[in-house]
Amino acid sequence: MARLKSEGPKKMASTLSKHSLQPSKMPRVKILGTGSFYPERIVNNHEISKKVDTSDEWITERTGIKQRRFSSPDGGEFPTDMARSASLTALKNAGLTPNDIDLIIFATFTPDHRLPSCATILQTKLGITNQCAALDIAAACSGFVYALSLANAMIKSGASQRTLIVGSEMLSRELNWYDRASCILFGDGCGAAVVGVNNDPTDTSDIISCTLAADGTGRKFMELEYGGTAYPLTAEIIDTPKRYMTMQGRELFKVAVRTLADISFSALKMAELTVDQIDWLIPHQANIRIIEATGERLGMPKEKVIVNIQEYGNTSAATVPAAMDGAISEGKIKRGDLLLLTAFGAGLTSGAAVIRY
Ligand code: ACO
Repeated sequence: MARLKSEGPKKMASTLSKHSLQPSKMPRVKILGTGSFYPERIVNNHEISKKVDTSDEWITERTGIKQRRFSSPDGGEFPTDMARSASLTALKNAGLTPNDIDLIIFATFTPDHRLPSCATILQTKLGITNQCAALDIAAACSGFVYALSLANAMIKSGASQRTLIVGSEMLSRELNWYDRASCILFGDGCGAAVVGVNNDPTDTSDIISCTLAADGTGRKFMELEYGGTAYPLTAEIIDTPKRYMTMQGRELFKVAVRTLADISFSALKMAELTVDQIDWLIPHQANIRIIEATGERLGMPKEKVIVNIQEYGNTSAATVPAAMDGAISEGKIKRGDLLLLTAFGAGLTSGAAVIRY
């Protein structure tokens, strides 16, 4: 098989930054409140090893994952249900009510339905009656950072005052049980944040920089070809491996480490800050070895890296916001801290943001 080359986001990111918003001329944007939600059901590695040929030792050593959460297939914990809970917490923490939101951006690749969008379903589930704009975005595991960047641009341009951004996934429905290297990685969960204009001149909270990139040449590293218009789900393939995502784990691993570090350096450069000024790194939770290697490449001490992969696995677009909310709830992240968010996913998409919380 031909090896896929991926140069990472360097070139794209620098092109993008030329067209980026200039922080000094724009209003500041604050994370007003965060929330998260995980389904009740805990699935540990022993349970996974009853379904596929693996072990707790192998999964722990190679990924750092000990357990993950799976949503109930009977309902009540679908992506928009989890998003409703996480969003209500975020709104409460922001001191706002649902109708204060004027834009919803929902990042997921496991939507409740193909139509309508999760964002519009969430609007109804939150009881929002102001007919605010609502859209889904598909950027896989980078989805939340993409959503944050879009929200930042919308607020800085004056198009939105308060945006609700969500990353919510029910990956348990999409697991490829024919592939023991991928089915062990993923879990379900949701993270949400309310971001809005910061008009207080004494409050330094801001989204200082966002850098996004994509490298479509890396498509083969992780894809799910069937179930779309090109290859609809037919009776012949419904119970075959083709119906599920495929992953080239070893190749993804290498690109992930390089890309997470490169995109982070781009965001730091745009923010005119250095790694030693950052209080907390909140990386996409894909594999503990990817997280550690990224931290090392960036020169970030381990104690400043937020990690929860051992408890929840990889929840795709939900990992970054849920990990951030967890660290805020635990009192680790405090107002005024400088945060570096970094994510990487299928596509290959990537994104990083520097935030004064
Ligand atoms: N249990 C036991 N053995 C396994 C398992 C398992 N679950 N999975 C693979 N193996 C075996 C393989 O068959 C192979 O055996 P062999 O040497 O006899 O052929 C051996 O373990 C090594 O396989 P590798 O694929 O080289 O294992 P690696 O150390 O690379 O770990 C893993 C695999 C965990 C998938 C790792 O490559 C990884 O995490 N990659 C990144 C994946 C990722 O992050 N995906 C998502 C990113 S994008 C997003 O988040 C949407």
